[in-house]
Amino acid sequence: MTTSTGIAGYTYGSDAVAKSPISMEDFELLKQTVMFTEEDERYLRLAGEVLQDQVEAILDLWYSFVGSHGHLVHYFENPSGKLIEEYLAAVRRRFTQWIMDTCTRSYDQDWLNYQQEIGLRHHHLKKNQTDQVQSVPHIGLRYLIAFIYPITATIKPF
Ligand code: HEM
Repeated sequence: MTTSTGIAGYTYGSDAVAKSPISMEDFELLKQTVMFTEEDERYLRLAGEVLQDQVEAILDLWYSFVGSHGHLVHYFENPSGKLIEEYLAAVRRRFTQWIMDTCTRSYDQDWLNYQQEIGLRHHHLKKNQTDQVQSVPHIGLRYLIAFIYPITATIKPF
């Protein structure tokens, strides 16, 4: 499925995205738990203005980080260990959009639903389906949690 953004597999706000099992009340509690306030939201909007012309450079950096670690690039490979270039490229376009979504979207029900969808796409319930690839079926939660650090730390110079 290609949406109005023209990005294949990017289904933000469409009927193809299920409602998140996390309620808005739960979401508020999560925000409190990570100390996220309206001030953070304001700074994210500003970050969006600064980052919009730099998203390709950011993705170059993140992809070189993943590419230089065999245990991470593994999740973009087929069962024989060969990199699926088209998969990497398709995910990159949606990841680029995610940077702008994170900075510019309102954190409403559509936003929450798509975060759930992103989570599912790393899980065996939905990984590989969007791009119809035969890759590794599941990414362990430990790497999702660990990846928060490089994403946060490496964005700073931008
Ligand atoms: C903080 C942690 C992470 C965030 C925020 C994140 C974010 C994203 C986003 C935004 C997408 C595209 C979602 C879409 O389809 O619209 C994506 C897809 C993907 N990411 Fe991550 N990611 C994280 C960790 C990881 C890690 C550790 C790996 C392992 C190398 C990984 C591998 C992938 C793969 C293979 C896909 C494609 C999934 C599919 O088949 O649809 N991600 N990620």
